[in-house]
Amino acid sequence: MNSLLKSITLTHNQFNRFSFQPSHFNFLVFYFLFLFFISCSPARNNEAFKKLSTKEQNKFQKYIIQGRDLYKANCIFCHQADGLGVKKLIPPLAGSDYLKVNQKQTALLIKNGSTTPITVNGISYSPTMPAHAHLTNLEIAELMTYINNSWGNEFGFVDGKYVSTLLE
Ligand code: HEC
Repeated sequence: MNSLLKSITLTHNQFNRFSFQPSHFNFLVFYFLFLFFISCSPARNNEAFKKLSTKEQNKFQKYIIQGRDLYKANCIFCHQADGLGVKKLIPPLAGSDYLKVNQKQTALLIKNGSTTPITVNGISYSPTMPAHAHLTNLEIAELMTYINNSWGNEFGFVDGKYVSTLLE
């Protein structure tokens, strides 16, 4: 009985020792703020990004933040939050060899939807991507800048004016 009491007291003491302290809370707040700021500048470690002027960096950071919202509203359902798509049905954007080299076709694809099967990383997909005719050229540029620079992709920055010339 004595030893049982002792072990209960010990557990209780240990619990006290590891219970939640206000300083832990401060640390957690700091930690989440840190994560938040890191996630607000997704392209910071990107080599191409480092070479841009400060003005361009600011512009493309805004594009990426807008692009992320547009992605959530228009694309995430199919291509998923991790950009990996759905096995055999929806192609990945993360690490996509198609996206990397077909920027012009991607702008057209987002606007008009797909008409022919596309092969991504060796797998052929059905042309079932819908058109997004409601998106402006600037929004397409923001989306492309976001998908080009997320999930480890470093496929470059896309300007709104560039999309306008592509879609003319
Ligand atoms: C209804 C599901 C669906 C939605 C929504 C959708 N896609 Fe797709 N996407 C597909 C499919 C399926 C393909 C393959 C099309 C083909 O083979 O012709 C594709 C292909 C692509 C490709 C080229 C292939 C690759 O993986 O690199 C890109 C880039 C792309 N989509 C981006 C987007 C973006 C950006 C959005 C949001 C504006 C979007 N998609 C919305 C289903 C979808």
